[in-house]
Amino acid sequence: MSRQIIVGNWKMNGTSRDSQVLVQALLAGLPPSVPDVVVCPPFTQLALLSDALKPTAVALGAQDCHKDVSGAHTGDISASMLTDLGVSYVILGHSERRQEHGELDETVREKAVAAGKAGLTPIVCIGETEDQRDSGEHFDTLGWQIKGSLPDGFSGILAYEPIWAIGTGRAATTDEIAETMKFLREELVRQFGEAGKTIRILYGGSVNDKNAASILAITDVAGALVGGASLKAEAFLSIIGAAS
Ligand code: G3H
Repeated sequence: MSRQIIVGNWKMNGTSRDSQVLVQALLAGLPPSVPDVVVCPPFTQLALLSDALKPTAVALGAQDCHKDVSGAHTGDISASMLTDLGVSYVILGHSERRQEHGELDETVREKAVAAGKAGLTPIVCIGETEDQRDSGEHFDTLGWQIKGSLPDGFSGILAYEPIWAIGTGRAATTDEIAETMKFLREELVRQFGEAGKTIRILYGGSVNDKNAASILAITDVAGALVGGASLKAEAFLSIIGAAS
């Protein structure tokens, strides 16, 4: 089994100074043998952290990119602009972008293609709402999101983030995650054949230093996408310590 991957999504938080302090604390506390670790700060801090992280075991990720290489897209950032800064990963289709920016599966798929072409590893997020889970539509929803958001030949990472678990302090139970992982793997194999067996799947949604070990021990969980707890060095280090 490949090493697990722990991704910190800082979302829209922190000043340059906050980021430097957080990264220094992370680097100082990293255990000698670490899983793959990625931090995804806001765009404004990528250049600064790129220098700080270059000689370390921590990789840099971004929280979005545009589908086009360049052009008249005010406020947007292309995938090649990210690789130019030393970024290796990009989170795509996070539910906050789907909700706040109207991103559709098709948009996410186009961005994943652009990211792959630029040499980035896309981390494509999918997840159901609480209503969809309560009404038993969650597997249908996830199946459609995979079909719509992942391009042919996808070789990135899939992140399962139930929307009701994000930022709520109420992570999915280990049974719910295990059952969903099994479904996602079957669906990936159904849609992508042999290649679907190797796509790594992360869990995200209220992962913290208390629940990380039990979540990361679930079959087929290849790591975690961590929001709030990734802003606290001690908690993030403890999650990293729980990974294999
Ligand atoms: O990208 C991270 C997820 O949205 C999870 O956020 O750990 O604060 O629930 P959270």
